[in-house]
Amino acid sequence: MKTILVAGATGQTGRLVVEHSLAKDYKVRVIVRSRNRLPSEILEHPNITLIEASLLDLSDEQMADLAKGCDAVVSCLGHVINFNGIFGEPKQLCTEATKRLCKAIESNCPLSPVRFILMNTVGVPNPNLSEQREWFERVVLSLLRWLIPPHKDNETAAQHFHSNIGQKNKYVEWCSVRPDSLINEGVSTYEITESPSTGLFNGQPTARSNVAHFIVRLIEDDSLWTSWRFRMPVIMNSQGDLNEELDQ
Ligand SMILES: NC(=O)c1ccc[n+]([C@@H]2O[C@H](COP(=O)([O-])OP(=O)(O)OC[C@H]3O[C@@H](n4cnc5c(N)ncnc54)[C@H](OP(=O)(O)O)[C@@H]3O)[C@@H](O)[C@H]2O)c1
Repeated sequence: MKTILVAGATGQTGRLVVEHSLAKDYKVRVIVRSRNRLPSEILEHPNITLIEASLLDLSDEQMADLAKGCDAVVSCLGHVINFNGIFGEPKQLCTEATKRLCKAIESNCPLSPVRFILMNTVGVPNPNLSEQREWFERVVLSLLRWLIPPHKDNETAAQHFHSNIGQKNKYVEWCSVRPDSLINEGVSTYEITESPSTGLFNGQPTARSNVAHFIVRLIEDDSLWTSWRFRMPVIMNSQGDLNEELDQ
């Protein structure tokens, strides 16, 4: 039985990761600001351990305790889409959470590496690849970087994996999953690519359920994990398949 820790479990995608994981019989630890934002089926599930706290307020020791014994850590954190969420503190929510969760894993010295899966965005380029965009898209992304703090936060969170964790860390292996515009649809067929295959404004949307489905597959399927660890897969719904929901 796998044990996973989910940050951002009350979010629209995080909650789906929790539901998919419980359906797989995983033990799931969640850190949430308010338990009231989770449905009773999750709150009362025997495999759930819930910590009610703001993640960045936890001490290093509390964070290490939460990560102890976990096979995977998933972060689906995202800034609340209102003025305070976008321009207020913590501006570096995703980055700080990624750094502290990595540190927590490392401090436990697990016998085998823990899988850290970060939900990121297709707007963040993979620094290990030369992902070219049209000049207009480059201008838009530069503006976002300087004007919209959550975009820069997503970039620096992914950068932490590349610059500080790397590919030879004994304790942490990572994958940064990059969805396109998120929509709420059931699980359908989806495409995973190494880099964006479309422009910034003409991509296929990505169902949050597909993101959650892929994240849980990365946890359960060792060969899929070996294929995508240390990479930043782009996930998009398959064209024309939006209404074709699959069995989970
Ligand atoms: N919107 C898009 O089209 C799009 C596209 C690609 C990628 N993304 C990225 O996908 C990620 C998740 O998207 P989503 O729609 O699933 O997110 P969401 O529903 O907005 O969930 C965000 C989660 O982060 C938590 N959170 C927010 N501020 C926090 C804070 N200060 N401290 C602790 N927790 C905090 C929220 O907790 P509470 O419930 O307590 O507020 C919630 O659990 C984001 O990083 C976003 O950038 C979005």
